[in-house]
Amino acid sequence: MSFPKDFMWGTATASYQIEGAWNEDGRGPSIWDVFCDEGTKVYEGHTGRSACQHYHRYKDDVSLMADLGIKGYRFSVSWSRVLPEGRGKVNAAGLGFYDRLVDELLEKNIEPYLTLFHWDLPQALYLKGGWLNRDIADWFAEYTGVIADRLSDRVTHWMTQNEPQCFIGLGMFTGTHAPGLKMHLSDVLIAYHNSLLAHGKAVSALRERARKPLLIGAAPTGSIVSPETNSNEDIDAAYRETFSVKPNSTWNISWWSDPAVLGHYPEEGLQAYGKHVPKFPSSDMDIIRQPLDFYGANIYNGYQVRHNKTTQKTESVTRYEGFPKTAIQWPVTPECLYWGMKFYHQRYHLPLYITENGMSSTDWVGLDGRVADYHRIDFLNRYLIEVRKACEESIPVKGYFLWSFMDNFEWAEGYKERFGIVHVDYTTQKRIPKESAYWYKKVIESNGNSL
Ligand code: GCO
Repeated sequence: MSFPKDFMWGTATASYQIEGAWNEDGRGPSIWDVFCDEGTKVYEGHTGRSACQHYHRYKDDVSLMADLGIKGYRFSVSWSRVLPEGRGKVNAAGLGFYDRLVDELLEKNIEPYLTLFHWDLPQALYLKGGWLNRDIADWFAEYTGVIADRLSDRVTHWMTQNEPQCFIGLGMFTGTHAPGLKMHLSDVLIAYHNSLLAHGKAVSALRERARKPLLIGAAPTGSIVSPETNSNEDIDAAYRETFSVKPNSTWNISWWSDPAVLGHYPEEGLQAYGKHVPKFPSSDMDIIRQPLDFYGANIYNGYQVRHNKTTQKTESVTRYEGFPKTAIQWPVTPECLYWGMKFYHQRYHLPLYITENGMSSTDWVGLDGRVADYHRIDFLNRYLIEVRKACEESIPVKGYFLWSFMDNFEWAEGYKERFGIVHVDYTTQKRIPKESAYWYKKVIESNGNSL
């Protein structure tokens, strides 16, 4: 056996990164509009105002997906397009867009995977305190209810939040993403806690309002740590390091995922954060921990460790000089997909999806009109072989969503980084499938046997 028969081969995007139409049909501003408007925060002052104009071109984009044989499409809903003030009055035109998108996908036999929140917080809610305000859990549940009422008759797979590690860590701790705050760790952990509450209330809202049984998860991220050798000591060290929490850093997996799945903060995190851990009623964990149907993991890279027998300590394996890196300077570490699936399953015992994986490359259109992204093909080939290995060991990996369907607005890096398997010319909006798109098509057609 290699990939299971019903393995879901998909691609992923997010609303602010592709939609454009920032001020059309009643959409309210999000924190990313404001952040980009500052002019200095994003590479060369780029903004998502126009992006891929997917809001207007969604039909062609879905057609292209169908031509490429893509079976599932993970997209996100822009909260402020649906609720311009974040709560209260629904913007019918905004909601209608997602309604049409879902119909279009289903008509082309592409399964929609919907992410409720992929970073574009309504500015109106940010001004009320955003993730620092405990009420955001109710605001998020209200928004979730609106989307559920409209789309849960057709959308089966739902994710609450994408990468809390980034929208809180990069947005509120290091300040490199919107809203660009550099807050004290104690405050950042309050935001984390509120995002967990919001996740929990959204899952409950989905279950209550759903018009058919739904499959619900989330899409957090983190670095996967692999063992240098297959010795039990190295594997144990890698597992521990993968879920470790370091003082004064919020870049980790377990601080968010342990409460959401296991119902408690990780012990090591409580120690590492000490007095900065927020006080909260113990009943909060009953809200946060909701039965989930899958664990979605965004995985791009990681590092290796070994167990040093002499010191009895875990140490990082130094990478050789000239180690392969993608355009955005992320190391190429395919084994993180195998170990990621293995470790996530070991800890959380849930069916798994790789909700994002892919690479940026300095792609351009050649004189022959083609986009020859052979590095991406090699990257995907190496990474998918590791997914196959996990499937062969009967780890329940249900699907893989390649980031990204098309080049798009890469947050603080603007349009500099191209992650798509479809090239986008941002002046003409012309789409050209790259060589990797044709390669991925064959992978899908053969259910991974062509790897
Ligand atoms: C993330 C986001 C995506 C990014 C992608 C490449 O994982 O950071 O979900 O929006 O574009 O990961 O950085």
